Amino acid sequence: MLRRDTYLPFGQPDFGDLEIQAVSQVLRTGWVGMGAETLAFERELAAACGAGAVVAVNSCTSALFLSLLVLGIKPGDEVVVPSLTWISTANVARHLGATVVFADVSPETLCMTPASVRAVLGPRTRAVIVVHYGGYAVDVAAIRRAVPAHIAVVEDAAHAWGARDATGRPVGGSGNLTCFSFYANKNLSTGEGGAIALADGPEADRLRSLRQHGLPQDAWKRFTDPRRLEALPVTELGYKMNYTDLQASLGRVQLRRQPEFADRRLAIARTYVEALASLRWPIAMQDGILAPGHARHLFVIQLPVAGLGQSRHDVLKAMRDRNVGASLHYPPIHLMPLYAGSRPGALPNTDRLAQRILTLPISATMTPDDARFVSDALADVLASGGRRQAAGE
Ligand SMILES: Cc1ncc(COP(=O)(O)O)c(C=O)c1O
Repeated sequence: MLRRDTYLPFGQPDFGDLEIQAVSQVLRTGWVGMGAETLAFERELAAACGAGAVVAVNSCTSALFLSLLVLGIKPGDEVVVPSLTWISTANVARHLGATVVFADVSPETLCMTPASVRAVLGPRTRAVIVVHYGGYAVDVAAIRRAVPAHIAVVEDAAHAWGARDATGRPVGGSGNLTCFSFYANKNLSTGEGGAIALADGPEADRLRSLRQHGLPQDAWKRFTDPRRLEALPVTELGYKMNYTDLQASLGRVQLRRQPEFADRRLAIARTYVEALASLRWPIAMQDGILAPGHARHLFVIQLPVAGLGQSRHDVLKAMRDRNVGASLHYPPIHLMPLYAGSRPGALPNTDRLAQRILTLPISATMTPDDARFVSDALADVLASGGRRQAAGE
């Protein structure tokens, strides 16, 4: 059996000497909390994605939660999300007492469409969270046109740092509250972390305050200047969701290295597309996976399960047995016990995809040879299913 000596995770960060030097420098200053490095990182992120402002927080989950909070989402409101996403996208609405309504996704892009969103709008819909699944940049202007003006469009861009839409505009530059993740396996990683890109103005100031207990937005300065004695007038109940300079120092290096990472991801994706096309099973891939604007955070395939002689679960397990970190993004949220009471909707594409999708490893640390090994391992696994089928097992 074809088996790797070491486990290949589905995603992992590329940290090198530059990151180590940057973090060491911050450690030597003794200033590891939020401060000048964080502000510099925020400015650089905003410039890179064409946003008026970026507010860094401790996770994308916090970014999504604070976004809905500043939009005034409250109990009784409905928030539309895809079911094919990480649980955070839905949970943040629940934390504010809102009802989650699931919209279906396109089988080609694995993202919501204007029609699938429109199909679930109701009189209580207050926000739609668009997920740029896998790094595919959804046409948010089309979603915006599909929903009435009083409904907010929020972007979950956890997978989409570096993605651009068909017009070439970077995700983050739409003016919508756009939430990024810098979690361990993301294209731009700081271990943990997140950020909200938006237009600069009072909403950005409120987010800066809410991430730090509702303190005035530059409250962190009191630590850097021991002479500052003024009182800190807190007027709003905030949260402890701030970012740190240790993470920002790492993030600033990762941001500079994005072109190098993007090239490597593209090389992996090209290798997969070529290798999978030569298999005798029809394997579908996400629309636009090789397009210039795709961030290629995930490489997701759809297996022709009916003709395989084995389930997707069997394939996933057999890949893991070969030390390949194939994965599943995602078990649909509407099928989870926590969401059993949510408004039922027709999600035929999501239900079908749930049986077929499989994520193959992709990261900037992988080589095309690694990708060829994964494709060979998949061919091996699929062939063994065919043999079992032929033997009538
Ligand atoms: C689509 C999506 N949304 C939100 C999140 C939450 O990100 P974080 O782990 O930074 O809170 C993730 C995390 O993987 C995600 O994949």
